[in-house]
Amino acid sequence: MSLNTDKLTNNKVWLAPLAGITDKPYRTICKECGADVVVSEMISVDGLIYNTDHSLEYANFDDSQRPFGIQLFGSDPQIFKKAIKIALTKEPDFIDINMGCPVKKVVKRGAGSALMTTPDIAVRIVSEIKNVLSPLNIPLSVKFRSGWDMFSTNFLEFGTKMQTAGADIICLHPRTRSQMFAGKSKWDLITKLKNEVSIPVIGNGDITSIEDVRSMKKISGCDSVMIGRGIMGNPWLFTLIHEFLQNKKIIQVSTEEKLRIIKRHLELMINEKGEKKAVMEMRTHFSHYTKGLRGSARIRESINRAYDIDRIILLIENLFRSQ
Ligand SMILES: Cc1cc2nc3c(=O)[nH]c(=O)nc-3n(C[C@H](O)[C@H](O)[C@H](O)COP(=O)(O)O)c2cc1C
Repeated sequence: MSLNTDKLTNNKVWLAPLAGITDKPYRTICKECGADVVVSEMISVDGLIYNTDHSLEYANFDDSQRPFGIQLFGSDPQIFKKAIKIALTKEPDFIDINMGCPVKKVVKRGAGSALMTTPDIAVRIVSEIKNVLSPLNIPLSVKFRSGWDMFSTNFLEFGTKMQTAGADIICLHPRTRSQMFAGKSKWDLITKLKNEVSIPVIGNGDITSIEDVRSMKKISGCDSVMIGRGIMGNPWLFTLIHEFLQNKKIIQVSTEEKLRIIKRHLELMINEKGEKKAVMEMRTHFSHYTKGLRGSARIRESINRAYDIDRIILLIENLFRSQ
């Protein structure tokens, strides 16, 4: 029998796992902006076993991030069985399995979206993990795509198998592996999946606005939505979506509020990783935060050469206030 997953799935907005982006400080930012559920970046089960301390760092979180899920990827059910016990030492609220990653390095090991071509192995992985999670009442979610390519869009059959094997929640990004990120995700496939299974379905793919949330929910009837690229450099979108989902009045986010969030992000990064590393890693985020702003290309060049925190903040403040 599946668990009550309401706190994860009842009209919630999820932060998608984004390797290299959704580290602990960014998850805190998203949570503070209004994300209901956050997930770690994908963590290799082999890494958890053979390089435990390093891999577990990706699973660090604090209580303010709850409900928090750890996402695992791999291809060997027995390795999963060992790794899950290590992941559980962090006491996450749920476990997610990545069966959608299209990246070559991952699929050539039979992991990520390659598992959609080996559903029997995918079923064994889910069953092994479920055996461990069941007595602890910890929910299990599985995230996948519409299939490997246009000739094998097996998401319906696959979703049903995941449900039967023990998944409590499924999340669909309706693109095939061979599409990678090309084209538009097909939200009507989420509708089909929702009609096929009885466990909650999280809809994912190409949400960048409240209007998109409204349409995806209307088209698909999905229980909750998950957003990835749409919040890169735009975490305050969660504030708007959260207000929308709670039927609250939507208040636009001011420039000063955006600056406050960016500075808070930098502060969290410095606390977590130290000044030098924070400045280097924040460059990717600054580039997202400033994307599309008038004169931002020149400012980004200056930010990428700067090491002094006060100077970086001044550059960003001046850019935002000059729009
Ligand atoms: C930079 C980047 C990193 C990603 N890392 C992960 C990951 O670690 N695990 C995962 O399941 N999906 C990963 N994804 C896929 C996203 O979670 C999401 O399914 C996909 O981007 C579609 O949603 P979106 O259109 O809202 O971005 C990644 C996507 C991007 C762009």
